[in-house]
Amino acid sequence: MFNGCKKYIPFHPQPIENRTWPDKIITKAPVWCSVDLRDGNQALVDPMNLREKLDYFHTLIDIGIKEIEIGFPSASETEYEICRELIEGGHIPDDVTIQVLVQARPHLIQKTFEAIEGAKNVILHFYNSTSTLQRKVVFHMEMEGVTQIAVDAADLIYELSQPMIEKGMNLRYEYSPESFMGTEMDNAVEICAAVLDHLHATAESRVILNLPTTVENCMPNQFADMLEYFIRSLPGRERAIISLHPHNDRGTGVATTEMGLLAGAERVEATLFGNGERTGNVDMVTLAMNMYTQGIDPELDFSDINKIRDMYERCTKMKVGERQPYVGKLVFTAFSGSHQDAINKGVQWMKANDSGYWEVPYLPIDPADVGRQYEPIIRINSQSGKGGAAFVMQQNFGFDLPKSMHPEFGHIVQLETDRVGTELQPQVIFDLFKKEYLDIDAPYKLIKHSFHEETTDGHSQVTFTGTLQHKDTKFVVVGEGNGPIDAFFNAIHGQKIDQFTFVDYKEHAITNGSDSMAVAYIQLRDKNGKDFFGVGISHNINLAPLKGILCAINRYKQHHVS
Ligand code: KIV
Ligand code: ZN
Repeated sequence: MFNGCKKYIPFHPQPIENRTWPDKIITKAPVWCSVDLRDGNQALVDPMNLREKLDYFHTLIDIGIKEIEIGFPSASETEYEICRELIEGGHIPDDVTIQVLVQARPHLIQKTFEAIEGAKNVILHFYNSTSTLQRKVVFHMEMEGVTQIAVDAADLIYELSQPMIEKGMNLRYEYSPESFMGTEMDNAVEICAAVLDHLHATAESRVILNLPTTVENCMPNQFADMLEYFIRSLPGRERAIISLHPHNDRGTGVATTEMGLLAGAERVEATLFGNGERTGNVDMVTLAMNMYTQGIDPELDFSDINKIRDMYERCTKMKVGERQPYVGKLVFTAFSGSHQDAINKGVQWMKANDSGYWEVPYLPIDPADVGRQYEPIIRINSQSGKGGAAFVMQQNFGFDLPKSMHPEFGHIVQLETDRVGTELQPQVIFDLFKKEYLDIDAPYKLIKHSFHEETTDGHSQVTFTGTLQHKDTKFVVVGEGNGPIDAFFNAIHGQKIDQFTFVDYKEHAITNGSDSMAVAYIQLRDKNGKDFFGVGISHNINLAPLKGILCAINRYKQHHVS
């Protein structure tokens, strides 16, 4: 028995009575802050250079993010220079606030103030670690000492900021008790309240308290309990904007954020596609689009997600996973037959009912809303069912096969997927259809024909006269009926090809550019009750069904060579 797990200390949940967050729902977007250029950047194998950071920064602006942590200007010359270029190069729109991070250390704070000189809107973000574990193994310090570091930094920041504010800078403050989730909640409340006091926070001049899940260590509901407890206990809560900064070590960063919002948070620090230290920061795209699918405007624009992904991959040299929500290459694709069938029905239902709501099974979002409308929703492999191939024929080539024909064509496609063992591209599916139905003109072929129509007392009588060829033999057939199909069927009566019953027929137009053709699907039944389909296409709507009938007969003959 493997007992390795015994070395881990289970999380101690924060006791809380009458929690209220489970009964709440998210009703509006939080204030978003991107930490891509700082937390995301510091986690890259090759951090971004100036050109890449600018490229990334402008994309964040285009998305509509108004608060952007641009870096850690006191950490290196490169970081400092990038901050200066953003400010002096005029890259920052007036309605965007840049955020700069600094440790609660005097010389770094000084340097950070130099770096932000001349900026219009700034959030000065300082932090120190408050966690129980780090106090024990890293700092060897009691909570008192940790609090002293934070309030000393707050005093210095407040002092250095006054001249800048007087010169017109819109300067705000943010404090992070790093590893908030690993801190005793009463200690977290105490240090945050002290920082609020030292920064002279008021309800009119609120300070951002950013509560990081630096290392995700508990279930999202347990985090929500902690947060609700923290907010309830914080003296002068109205002086603070409660911000979340979730990482994703347990893979539940999105859930932690969503439950944190229920528990009272108002702001979220996140990154595109969840880049960040270790397992990443929480993914802003997923959070925003999750809100979007609940009818809530996330106030961020992800309507061209592929463009954003391309920028992200170019600048970070990271890859977005194929199953990453809303953006991965495969997330709007269904391979399974029953899923394909349900999607198909949902799409048809929406067309027919004009409902105004998105009601397609298996697709939580309309791919067009993130600019993905051109991709095949349904792809065909050996797991796909009969409806999938029909869907591809309709979506990609305009052939609306009758439902009763789906199993026959689906089976043909299935045999091919089994043979090749890989996914079939739409063109291959069309080629199979063409080979099976459109290219068949043997053993029977219609050489020439004419219709004569007479109408008496509103009753029309059609006469078909045609020359058919069977192998090398040509013969003339004549028949009458109440329509072209009936007349043709009667004409071939008595020939060797009359052992079929006519079951059903469907015809529609397909347009290719300015060229419009009729396509007819014919269902015939042989003496043993087995059905065969034929397809005919022609510019002439009377000829298409005749070709369809001959196609069905020819297919039957080819399958029964005896
Ligand atoms: O994850 C974290 O705790 C951080 C802080 C510096 C905010 O990135
Ligand atoms: Zn972080």
